[in-house]
Amino acid sequence: MQKTFYIETFGCQMNAHDSEKVVGTLLATGYSQVETVEEANYVFYNTCSIRDKAEQKVFHRLDTFKKAAGGGKVFAVLGCVAQQEGEKIFAKAPHVSLVAGSASYTKLPQMLVQLEAGNRRVTGLSFDTDEAFDTPYTRRDNPHRAYLTIIEGCDKSCAYCVVPFTRGPERSRTSQSVLEEGRRLAADGYTEIQLLGQNVNSYRDPSPVGWDFATLLSKVGEIPGMRRVRFTTSHPRDFVKPIIDAIDENPNLCNHVHLPVQSGSTRVLAAMQRLYTRDQYMQRIEWMKNARRPIAITTDIIVGFPGETETDFEDTLKLLDEVRYDSLFAFKYSVRPNTAALTMPGQIPEEEKTRRIQIVLERQRAIQIRLNSDLIGNVEEVLVEGQNKALGQWIGRTSQHRPLNFASQPGESLLGTYLPVRVTRAGPNSLVGERVTPVV
Ligand code: 5AD
Ligand code: SF4
Repeated sequence: MQKTFYIETFGCQMNAHDSEKVVGTLLATGYSQVETVEEANYVFYNTCSIRDKAEQKVFHRLDTFKKAAGGGKVFAVLGCVAQQEGEKIFAKAPHVSLVAGSASYTKLPQMLVQLEAGNRRVTGLSFDTDEAFDTPYTRRDNPHRAYLTIIEGCDKSCAYCVVPFTRGPERSRTSQSVLEEGRRLAADGYTEIQLLGQNVNSYRDPSPVGWDFATLLSKVGEIPGMRRVRFTTSHPRDFVKPIIDAIDENPNLCNHVHLPVQSGSTRVLAAMQRLYTRDQYMQRIEWMKNARRPIAITTDIIVGFPGETETDFEDTLKLLDEVRYDSLFAFKYSVRPNTAALTMPGQIPEEEKTRRIQIVLERQRAIQIRLNSDLIGNVEEVLVEGQNKALGQWIGRTSQHRPLNFASQPGESLLGTYLPVRVTRAGPNSLVGERVTPVV
C-alpha cells in the first residue's frame, strides 16, 4: 500500500509542536504528507480536550469522513482527546484504528508497524514511556520561530482543568538537552525560540546543576544568533521575581509575559484551586509594571465557573481595569470529565456565561484601543512573519507580541528579517506602521 498521511491539529502550541514531531517521525519512516483527507491512506487528528467544543470537533470530523473508512483509510486519534477517552473512542467511532496520547509519540513507528501487520486496534496511552521532548526528526512549520519543549505535564490540580489527566505528571528536560537543541536551532537559521510547557515556571533541571526556570531562560537568551526568546505558559503561583530580572537584563528575552489569572475574585480562585489570591497575583503584576523594560502582559479569563456570583464577576472586571492587559483570551467555563469542578454546585446557565464573556470582551476591547493608540509614534523592532498580499502589507510582530504591519513594495522579500517600524495607526488588535530607515 502507498504510504501517505494527512494530519490536522487542534488546540494549543504544545499540540502544534507535537504535530511537528509526529510529521517528522512519519516522514523519516517513509510516509509522505498530503494536503487532503481524500488523498491520504492515514488520517491523523491531533486533538484538544480543554473545552467541550474542542473535543466535539474531532468527533464531528470523524463522522464526516466515516464513509471514507471503507476505502481502506486508516484513522488515528492523537493528543488530549485520545488520552482522555482512550479505548472509548473505538466505541464512539468504530472506524478509528489508532488512539495515542502525547507521551507515546516516540513509539509511533512501532504502532504503525502493528497497524500494517493487520492489527485493527492499536493504543498508546501510558505515561511511563521514553521522553518525547526531542526527536531527531521534528519537522518545524515556521522557518524563523521554533517551539522548544522544556517541561511536559502538570502537577497542579486546577478544578476545571483536564491537562493533568491528558498530559500526565510534570517531567522537566535537562538543561543540557534544551541548550543543545537551542544551539542547533540557531545553526539552522532560527532566530526566535518559544519555550513550551504547561507550567514553564515550575521547570527544574533534573541534572545535578538543578537550574530553575529563570536561570534556564537567561541561558537560552545567551545562545548566539537567537534574537528572541518567548515562553508559555506561566502559573502565577510559581512565577518568581528573578524571571522579570532576567528579562530586564537581556533584551533577547521578549518583553511579554502571559500570566493566566482566570478570575479576579479570591473566593473563585480558591474554588478553582489556583493556589494564589488576587493580591498575590497583583504583586506579580507590580513586579512587571516596575520593570525597566515595558513588559506586555496578557492573560486567560474563565467566566461562569460554578458558584461565580455577580460580585465575583465584578471583581474580574475591576481586575481588568487595574491591570490593563495588552490582550487576553476569555473562555466560558466548560464542564470537563474527571475534574473537581464537574460535580460542583452552582453551575451557571449558558446564557449567563455568554452575557459575562461579552462584557469581558467589550471592556477589554476599549482597554486595548487606548493602549494601542498610546503607541502611535513609537518605533518598534518587528520580526517579519508573513505577508498579506490583498492589503499589500508585511505582517510583523514586536517583542511585546503585537502584530505591527507595514506596506510592502513589489518584489521585495523581507520574511524573517528584523526591521524598525514606526507606528502610525492603531486598532484594538493590531498596529499599522511605516518602515524607518535605520540611521547608520
Ligand atoms: N473551561 C473553560 N476554559 C478552560 N481553560 C482550561 N480549562 C477550561 C475549562 N474547563 C482555559 C484556561 C486556560 C486556557 C488554556 O484554557 O483559561 O488558561
Ligand atoms: Fe493543549 Fe490543553 Fe488542549 Fe491538550 S487540552 S491540546 S494541552 S490546550
